[in-house]
This record gives sequence, C-alpha cells and structure tokens, in this order.
Amino acid sequence: APVPSVAGPLLFWYDRHARALPWRVSPESRTAGTPPEPYRIWLSEVMLQQTTVATVKSYFARFVDRWPTVGAVAAAPETDILGEWAGLGYYARARNLHACAKTVTDDFDGCFPRTAAELRALPGIGEYTSAAIAAIAFDEPVAVVDGNVERVVTRLFAIEAPLPGARKTIRAHVAALTPDSRPGDFAQAMMDLGATVCTPTGPACILCPLRVHCRAATQGRAAQFPVKKPK
Ligand code: ADE
Ligand code: SF4
Repeated sequence: APVPSVAGPLLFWYDRHARALPWRVSPESRTAGTPPEPYRIWLSEVMLQQTTVATVKSYFARFVDRWPTVGAVAAAPETDILGEWAGLGYYARARNLHACAKTVTDDFDGCFPRTAAELRALPGIGEYTSAAIAAIAFDEPVAVVDGNVERVVTRLFAIEAPLPGARKTIRAHVAALTPDSRPGDFAQAMMDLGATVCTPTGPACILCPLRVHCRAATQGRAAQFPVKKPK
C-alpha cells in the first residue's frame, strides 16, 4: 500500500495550493503559529454539511460578523439565527446550531470540547463533523472522510468494491494515512485535492502531488473510480 509517503507530499502541496477560505487561518498567520478558532471551524463545518463551499463563503462572513463568538450565537433569539440561515436550507441544522451554542456556553464555559468523541455528543454534530472539528481545531489525528476524500482514496488504492459498501475500507485507509502532525491540514488538503485536482470527471493527475502513489493513475483508470453500486 502507498501508505507512509502520502502525507508528506500532500502537505507540501497544501502549503502552496490551499484554497483561501474565510474560516481558515491565512498561510502567513499559520506559519506564525496562529491556531484556528474552534467557533469558526464548527460554524463552517455545520454550514458545509449540505451546502457548497461557494455558497457558504458569504453566509459564513455575514454570520461571524453579526455573532463573533459562540456565546453571541447562544444569546441570540432563534428567529434571528433562522433569519440569517435563510437560503442555506435544512433549517434543522440552524436549530441544532443554536442548541449546540447554548450547550457549549452553559455546560462547557464557552469552550468546545477537544475530542471527536465528546464533540459527537453535541446537537447537530455527527461522525463527519466531529472528526473535522477535532482534527482541524484541536489537532486530533482522526480520519475525516467526506465525498471528496472518498473519491481520492478509492483512486489512490484502486478500490473496486462499490460505494456505499466500500466506506469501511475507505475509512481504514484514511485512518492509516492520517499523520500525527498536522492532521487538520491533512484533512483539508485531501478535500482541496478532491475539489481542485482529483475532480469527479477529468482528474488532473498530471498536476497531482500523489500521482506516483496512485494506483488508479498508474493504471490509467482514474476516472473509473469510485465504483458505484448499480441501482
Ligand atoms: N468541506 C467541508 N469542510 C471543508 C473544509 N474545512 N475545507 C474545504 N472544504 C470543506
Ligand atoms: Fe486523483 Fe489522479 Fe491524483 Fe490519483 S493521481 S489522486 S486519480 S488526481
């Protein structure tokens, strides 16, 4: 398996090609040691659950402008939260967001818990979101698996088993690839690679930092993965 050598080149690529997104720390600040804000990571990951990055950007900016802390979200009337959410859809997310803000404020002194296991117990935070927050905000080396990551991994390992059945295998591969150092950047690098290079149709393998480690690319079959179960 192409395991140990993937994180190094991927992080090297990420340091040059990371997307500038409003919830991320800028490369300069990151180099200077500025940590990500858990509040911004939580908010962005909840918004990104069912909405594209392109749409989330402006909603995120308005939201943090109006409510700069989790305590401010908790103190706001729910109708105001729902009003600011209008257009993002899936309004149960906004209600859970408000409930989560109140729990963090009232039961955790305004500080998000730092592990995926504890985060998972909060309203609106499932398997993916708990892992994303723990890795990105708190450097916990957990596997973060979204649709982009699934596609990259099925190609890296030429996984012939169809989705969704292959999910357990994919998760095990991601866990094995995730480094103890910079796990949050690794997760976001996998997402960015999937969004910008290892795209669903016509992946740009020629530009990919993982090409020499990629079984599907080596076989000239990148676009054949992921295999989907016929309906
Ligand atoms: N999609 C969900 N979370 C993301 C993140 N942190 N960066 C880029 N895309 C994402
Ligand atoms: Fe995706 Fe191609 Fe990179 Fe493999 S080499 S990870 S298929 S872009």
